[in-house]
Amino acid sequence: MALGNPVRSEGLSARERYELLTSLVVPRPIGWLSTRGPDGVANLAPYSYFAALSASPMLVGVSIGHRSTGPKDSLVNIRAQGAFCVNVVDVDHLEAMNASSIDSGPGHDEFLHAGLKAVDSPLVDAPYVSGIRAVLHCRLHRELDIGAEANTLVVGLVVGTSVDDSLLRVEGTRYVRTESLRPVGRLWGPTYSLPGEIRALPRPRPSD
Ligand SMILES: Cc1cc2nc3c(=O)[nH]c(=O)nc-3n(C[C@H](O)[C@H](O)[C@H](O)COP(=O)(O)O)c2cc1C
Repeated sequence: MALGNPVRSEGLSARERYELLTSLVVPRPIGWLSTRGPDGVANLAPYSYFAALSASPMLVGVSIGHRSTGPKDSLVNIRAQGAFCVNVVDVDHLEAMNASSIDSGPGHDEFLHAGLKAVDSPLVDAPYVSGIRAVLHCRLHRELDIGAEANTLVVGLVVGTSVDDSLLRVEGTRYVRTESLRPVGRLWGPTYSLPGEIRALPRPRPSD
């Protein structure tokens, strides 16, 4: 076994950098973003450049790429309404999530394309997926231009969360049991990780 010399990122093509990054930073959570366009049309698309950033304030980050024609619809809508919802992708919604990634252009409702219904968030000006079991309702907190290849990092303030009654909690806490949520992670290209073995490992204490 040998790691060898590091490959310098600057010597790689954009495609090669993408292939390395997205197959090494795995599995990634999927921010399945639902938004509403300035024309009122609902929009739905998955984003796996997505992460939890902070609990207080409660922040999530999503990096949205631009097309040669301009920003993707999710970003246009987030800017217009100052809001979005994050639908937590579980095993039962894997196919619908993938269907919603179609590049269908503004004014096209990916909810319909994916066979889903939109429900209005009671907290922010955005819809969420009917039947989804967990939602983060977000307000646009900050936007950051992150480079020449045209990606915009959107930071969302989670102003509320919805968790379905059917999801199990760790008693006396708000932790949702992962085995009941059954979340999907993004690997590279068209590959995903489904829930598998869960190991609990108590954190070491200085006195141990
Ligand atoms: C699982 C998955 C993850 C994706 N992650 C991203 C991402 O992080 N950033 C991005 O710009 N596009 C990502 N895409 C592609 C967008 O979903 C796709 O471009 C979509 O059409 C954007 O829709 P919109 O224009 O309605 O926002 C991803 C696609 C899939 C299937």
